[in-house]
Amino acid sequence: WHTPVFVMALGYLLGSIPFGVLLTRIGGAGDLRRIGSGNIGATNVLRTGRKGLAAATLLLDLGKGAAAVLLGAHLLGADALANGGAMAGVMAFIGHCYPVWLRFAGGKGVATMMGVCLALAWQIGLIFAIVWVGMIALTRISSAGGICAGLAGPIACIGLGRLDLFAPVASMALILLWRHRANIGRLLRGEEPCIGGAKA
Ligand code: G3P
Repeated sequence: WHTPVFVMALGYLLGSIPFGVLLTRIGGAGDLRRIGSGNIGATNVLRTGRKGLAAATLLLDLGKGAAAVLLGAHLLGADALANGGAMAGVMAFIGHCYPVWLRFAGGKGVATMMGVCLALAWQIGLIFAIVWVGMIALTRISSAGGICAGLAGPIACIGLGRLDLFAPVASMALILLWRHRANIGRLLRGEEPCIGGAKA
């Protein structure tokens, strides 16, 4: 039970629960993958007009990342070199972005990375959250907040002297950027819509 492979599999399975898709369907708001950007995250749930469902998606996607870290740390310990929390957390993040249940077409990882960071080291999670909220307040564009917060993660590890967490946090940041590649293109062209706006 207490093997890295088991802990990573558990993390992946937790992360792969597509709360946005499930809540939207249960709430009778249709198939999220056919709405707006087609993404399975809270931003796209908001495009259904259901604010409560969007908030619940944000919290649950964040919560599954945090839960994976706490579970991994409990089962394997959280030594700097063999951090069960980091293993399970990164795998939960990968599970969210590439869930087997959706043929590996998952989300972009912002909420789940925030939850993983908060549970790994709350200071890093707090910096992530502040950058995310701050950029969204400034630009009204969700992806701009997510991308900047993702970049802030590994920088925060260095700034706070948590070099033991740099590799897992930077790995999530790289995947987050890759998952936002279409958003980055639209941002550069000035075509990324504001929160709540329509998206083809
Ligand atoms: O968290 C996802 C967000 O950064 C972008 O989502 O639907 O606007 O592409 P979306």
